[in-house]
Amino acid sequence: MATITFIQQNGEKVVVENAIGNLMEIATANDVEGITGDCGGNCSCSTCHVYITPEWRDKVGEAHEAEKDLLEFNDHEKPNSRLGCQIEMSDELDGLVVEVAPGE
Ligand code: FES
Repeated sequence: MATITFIQQNGEKVVVENAIGNLMEIATANDVEGITGDCGGNCSCSTCHVYITPEWRDKVGEAHEAEKDLLEFNDHEKPNSRLGCQIEMSDELDGLVVEVAPGE
């Protein structure tokens, strides 16, 4: 089973063990501040915006085209930006650490 750590904007960490689902679902189910998942995971709101920490970027992979298009409109977009709803947790990602991006 996989563990994920969310680093909130206030610097506090939320560690979720046995994490199942996509990162937005995991965050909202565990009261991670700053992730609301307003569109329900349809890649159309960016309220699940996270930054992938450098050591995890290769494993998590790049955003797909529709995701990139949406992130382009986000003021806080960075090269390591991803939408949490587009990343499915897996055993391969066990230990993943992401930072919650600032809200719009
Ligand atoms: Fe809306 Fe991810 S929940 S884009």
